[in-house]
Amino acid sequence: MAKPKVFATHRLFEPARKILQEHCEVEYWEKPERPPREEVLRRVKDKEALVCLLTEKVNDELLLAAPKLKIAANVAVGFDNIDVAACTRRGVVATNTPGVLDETTADFAWTLLMAVARRLLEGDALARSGNWKGWDLDQLVGTDVWGKTLGIVGFGRIGRAMARRATGFQMKVIYTDAVRAAANVEKGLGAEYRDMNTLLAESDFVSVHTPLLPETRGLFNVEKFGRMKRTAYLINTSRGPVINENDLVAALESGRIAGAALDVFEKEPAIHPGLRRANVVLAPHIASASLETRTKMACMAAENVVALLQGRRPANILNPEALKG
Ligand code: GLV
Repeated sequence: MAKPKVFATHRLFEPARKILQEHCEVEYWEKPERPPREEVLRRVKDKEALVCLLTEKVNDELLLAAPKLKIAANVAVGFDNIDVAACTRRGVVATNTPGVLDETTADFAWTLLMAVARRLLEGDALARSGNWKGWDLDQLVGTDVWGKTLGIVGFGRIGRAMARRATGFQMKVIYTDAVRAAANVEKGLGAEYRDMNTLLAESDFVSVHTPLLPETRGLFNVEKFGRMKRTAYLINTSRGPVINENDLVAALESGRIAGAALDVFEKEPAIHPGLRRANVVLAPHIASASLETRTKMACMAAENVVALLQGRRPANILNPEALKG
């Protein structure tokens, strides 16, 4: 029997290719740059499964172009690029890759936090400029991390992994979330619940870990920045549109907050020019980018595809309703 046809919008990693190739006939987008939209729409035409990245929109347009599609497997935990309701309407299963990237992403949120607090990039630039004149008492003085208050916005798996890492820095950890964590979770992580406004008023570092939802889009705006300490830093490894970048730039320009460290942006790959400032650390959406983790994510997506094509329920299904009927 002919193997089911799959389009992967990326060449993936070898272990993921192995998983797919055993059960499917896979067409990969092998080029290093992301595929143009027309290419994606053309190649999904005869495919039963799509393995895609967060840079591809899985919406009505794509679903219409892919009448045989049974599954769209996102190689990402965030799935704001997928119109899940549209998938469900057409009986297409959507999956993501939760769980495998929590620790790696939290590592990187900490990397950003430390880098902005201790002015690492300015130090690196000076050290490699040839202009460093030697040790000086007030050279590139930053702010302490240890002993400060870390405010976590979004206390899911990644937010909690962020909290776990704060212990060694003797930090006070506070968090806010739509749903308060169980008492034993709070106790285990040494984290205290605050409402959003109180968290903003108390935190020295605010680290964002919410998914992008209608209610989190533009969450960080002029009003929220106005509630933060003037000495506080904002760290974002979640999704860019959670922050209103115009308002953030204004807050940075006016000294309303001390700095920011960002892995994600409102209109990727564009970055607001006002963010190119010494007190802002910028990264190109790489928080989960360790070889180990990205390989696991690709394998997870491949396994979701194989499961569905073999008539099993994919482990990371986002819309079980799509399976009914
Ligand atoms: C990356 O941003 C992801 O959602 O996995």
